[in-house]
Amino acid sequence: MTEAQASPPDAPRAPSAEPKKRPRVFSGVKPTGTLTLGNYLGALRNWVQGQREVDPIFCVVNDHAITIRIDPEELRRNTREVAAIYLAVGLDPEHCILFVQSDVPEHTGLAWVLNSVTYYGELHRMTQFKDKTAKGKLEGVSAGLLNYPILMAADILLYNTDEVPVGEDQKQHVELCRDVAIRFNGLFGETFVVPKPVIPKVGARIMSLDDPTRKMEKSNPNAGSYILLTDGPDVIKKKLARAVTDSGSEILATPDKPAITNLLTIASALTGKPIPQLQEAYVGKMYGHLKKDLGELVSETLKPIQEKVATYLADPAQLEAILDRGAERARAIAGPTLALAKKRIGLGWKAAAR
Ligand code: TYM
Repeated sequence: MTEAQASPPDAPRAPSAEPKKRPRVFSGVKPTGTLTLGNYLGALRNWVQGQREVDPIFCVVNDHAITIRIDPEELRRNTREVAAIYLAVGLDPEHCILFVQSDVPEHTGLAWVLNSVTYYGELHRMTQFKDKTAKGKLEGVSAGLLNYPILMAADILLYNTDEVPVGEDQKQHVELCRDVAIRFNGLFGETFVVPKPVIPKVGARIMSLDDPTRKMEKSNPNAGSYILLTDGPDVIKKKLARAVTDSGSEILATPDKPAITNLLTIASALTGKPIPQLQEAYVGKMYGHLKKDLGELVSETLKPIQEKVATYLADPAQLEAILDRGAERARAIAGPTLALAKKRIGLGWKAAAR
């Protein structure tokens, strides 16, 4: 462009012919058991809502599931079920890459490379590792449980990921992934995109129904503490009816009412109504009213999802075809990233790799 043609600095810009690059998004759930309402509100629901604005990749992270002892048949069943849930909640396989981690060996390949730039102290400080080994008994704790965040970093970095939508409990792992990427880039030259965690404003940390100071999780031995995505309406209503409450009777989300705050948070996440609006609607009502309404709301939300899960599980050939195609598309991105990382660190040693 000559000077005469140049627009004045504040003239409106002509729309660029190049489409704006959508952020690459990567996330996953580990198939250690049936998913909970916490997984749905902290992760899955947000993946579905945002899928059209981004370039999305979602993985059933089954390599992660073997860091704790799990029956092989159960792991296979859970893997299929989580994949069916991805589809049932509304992830569109025409738009998202959906695949199973163990079908893409680049994940474990890159994890080994990243082992060399991750420090023992960093892994040892991870809250989740400390929680899982809280009884102080390290006997029987697999090395995989300690190294788990390295595999998670590999998952994310393989795809040049910009954003990682997760619940609050995974933020620390994504931050470690950033540190590892920055360190590797600094030592060996620009290789990885440095990702950022994306945490939902509502629903990032759904708490246990029996103890609002603990996160809702499927590994809790008390089945009354969590709602599973597979729970039927009667079970859901019973679990919510038995959920612990706080002293007093007002329905308010205040620091002295962690149990009611949790129930209001679930209601807000499911209805999209802000918590103050819900508090207003419950003025003069009892805790029981909120529990009853929530029972209906959760059951109604999960019913269509459960029906679709059953349909996908009834057609394993279709499910496998979707996941095979996803794995193929994933490998087309992951392969070159792993090759570049290996070249940078000296493992790609042949003349052609230089
Ligand atoms: P996982 O399988 O424990 O949980 C899957 C997702 O659900 C979120 N979540 C919750 N959100 C709100 N309230 C809760 N009570 C709750 N419980 C779980 C988690 O934050 C997560 O987003 N390490 C990961 C899986 C993983 C991964 C990855 C995630 C492996 N590689 C790469 C993102 C990117 C995990 O164990 O999540």
